[in-house]
Amino acid sequence: MSANYRAVRLEHASRLLNHGPTVLVTSAAAGRRNVMAAAWSMPVEFVPPRVAVVIDKQAFTRELVLAGGAFALCLPGIALAELTYAVGQYSGRTQDKFARHGLHARPGPVLGMPLIESGCAAWLECRLIREPHAEQAYDTCFAEVVAAAADTRIFSDGRWHFDAGNGELQTLHHLGGGQFVRPGGTLVVTAS
Ligand SMILES: Cc1cc2nc3c(=O)[nH]c(=O)nc-3n(C[C@H](O)[C@H](O)[C@H](O)COP(=O)(O)O)c2cc1C
Repeated sequence: MSANYRAVRLEHASRLLNHGPTVLVTSAAAGRRNVMAAAWSMPVEFVPPRVAVVIDKQAFTRELVLAGGAFALCLPGIALAELTYAVGQYSGRTQDKFARHGLHARPGPVLGMPLIESGCAAWLECRLIREPHAEQAYDTCFAEVVAAAADTRIFSDGRWHFDAGNGELQTLHHLGGGQFVRPGGTLVVTAS
């Protein structure tokens, strides 16, 4: 190892790799609805657009996602940092987190998933792809994105625009242990 390097505890390996946008996973089934924070989500295919998200088997969200066969990923902006952290600290099994935090959600256009737009930069409505082994062994749920929308103040023409005027909508990136970082600016690179 070179002089500037030190070993990283393997329990912290994920922190090196994953500081993409923290999402709010929303779900609904059988008259119940819920929302939780998730840092571990990723795209896995362009066409059809597919994603994967880790949803722990203890989470109430997992129960609703399996029952409803769907979920939505809403991308909270910096203004929702405390809310995002809060809904990742306790379960919605015994209380409605939307009501507790005064969160307004509207039904998604294809699957009726609860979509949070106020304070969020974007949402993706997703139909679960059943992969029982991945769900059971790795808590990983795969899904196809069937609808998506974004606030044009920060995402338009297929691109993010992070600038001084849209700070409150800028995405949150969890570094672990309740520490977040915000995007510091855009770097545009072209192939030579
Ligand atoms: C910033 C943050 C990121 C989190 N990321 C994940 C994640 O990727 N997967 C997961 O299963 N839980 C994650 N959690 C924990 C869940 O949000 C937490 O267990 C939540 O209470 C589950 O809620 P529910 O039982 O209402 O579904 C995260 C929590 C926080 C605060």
